[in-house]
Amino acid sequence: MRLFAPLNPPLPAWRNAKVWIIGASTGIGAATAQRLLEAGAKVALSARSEDKLREVATNSPDAMILPLDFTDTPAVARAWDTLRAAWGAIDLVLVVAGTHQEMRAWELNERDSRALLEINLHAPVNTTGVVMPALLAQGHGALGIVASVAGYRGLPKALVYGASKAALVNFTETLYFDLHPKGFGVYLVMPGFVRTPLTDRNDFAMPNLISADEAADAIVSGLRNGDFEIHFPRVFTRKMKLLRLLPYRAYFFLIRKITGL
Ligand SMILES: NC(=O)c1ccc[n+]([C@@H]2O[C@H](COP(=O)([O-])OP(=O)(O)OC[C@H]3O[C@@H](n4cnc5c(N)ncnc54)[C@H](OP(=O)(O)O)[C@@H]3O)[C@@H](O)[C@H]2O)c1
Repeated sequence: MRLFAPLNPPLPAWRNAKVWIIGASTGIGAATAQRLLEAGAKVALSARSEDKLREVATNSPDAMILPLDFTDTPAVARAWDTLRAAWGAIDLVLVVAGTHQEMRAWELNERDSRALLEINLHAPVNTTGVVMPALLAQGHGALGIVASVAGYRGLPKALVYGASKAALVNFTETLYFDLHPKGFGVYLVMPGFVRTPLTDRNDFAMPNLISADEAADAIVSGLRNGDFEIHFPRVFTRKMKLLRLLPYRAYFFLIRKITGL
């Protein structure tokens, strides 16, 4: 590996590139799907809400709607088969879908934590397992996974959400070791705060909040550059990266001071 070469092979020009986005009905996934359709890619859109997927696709001849619940692994496998039967080899699978629930130590319970881990960790891992054999067989392609800067280190109120995203970071890093030497792209997407239906529920001022369109621009440009970690907005994520380096005493002190929690 050359020291300063892009960490991923450059993706082909978007025109006619074939992309599957899981979590494309709202927010970051919807905005990214629209960007890629505008750029000339063929985009398959998945999520549970078929009506919203149709709105995002706006009748584009380059869009395919594949509604599914991605915690249902057989349904993911059926959609993957349908997609490949229609379009052949797929250039990029982007797993954006996820959910968020605030949780503190005294709110921890099995039902909510299982539900959160099912959507944020087991479903992305199982989806990766579904697409892997065909991706390896086709001999090229890329996989992108959306985690969160909440996966860098523990944060107040993110008891299980943060753990799910930290696990996804580790999972994606580990995938890179296996897939990069074989010529596949592996992308780790790390959003800061993005205005979407997910964050509309937050009752605190979100620092450096950006729009879903800005997030989509950052993702598309990171994919084009062959970055491994696509993090944004950089003004926020750079601060989170610095905090990650602090010893625990300083980290706990500063996060308490910043959040008041
Ligand atoms: N917004 C932020 O500030 C932020 C920050 C860090 C990380 N993230 C991450 O970015 C990703 C996208 O979040 P967002 O903010 O764009 O939220 P969002 O607007 O709520 O989008 C979530 C997407 O995931 C889909 N989804 C959820 N559960 C699903 C399931 N079981 N099966 C299939 N699709 C499912 C939703 O569609 P349906 O409901 O139609 O199924 C929707 O398309 C998430 O992984 C989130 O953790 C977001």
